[in-house]
Amino acid sequence: MKKKLVALFMGSALILGACGGGGDTAKEPANNNAAAPAADNAAAEGLFAQSCASCHGQNLEGGVGPDLTQVGGRLDAAGIENIIVNGQLAMPAGLLQGDDAKAVSDWLATHK
Ligand code: HEC
Repeated sequence: MKKKLVALFMGSALILGACGGGGDTAKEPANNNAAAPAADNAAAEGLFAQSCASCHGQNLEGGVGPDLTQVGGRLDAAGIENIIVNGQLAMPAGLLQGDDAKAVSDWLATHK
């Protein structure tokens, strides 16, 4: 009986998590279209680690791509989003889209 309850709970947690978008956001079910900054930061860092860190470094220190630790001083969120969506020279376009691209841009723009 207890096992069934646990299974039920985990099942609904998975379903809720599936709406979150990124794999790392499973614990923040309401992350879909909300603008909750704290949750977005965590989500953005996870997305960056997955899609960007291979070229820009885990700590934004740069690598194949430029250092992004102060990118917010050069570009605003819209400018960063534009680069993510459309690419720029050696950086491929479309690594992230929609809300994901926006969350990461907003987060990067705070690095000045
Ligand atoms: C395949 C490697 C690669 C990946 C993956 C990559 N980038 Fe880049 N990125 C680059 C390169 C190379 C440049 C420099 C392009 C140029 O010469 O203008 C760049 C430039 C940028 C710039 C402009 C920096 C500046 O100071 O002008 C931003 C912002 C940026 N990337 C963000 C991201 C984000 C966010 C992601 C993840 C969604 C990402 N990049 C993934 C290679 C990459």
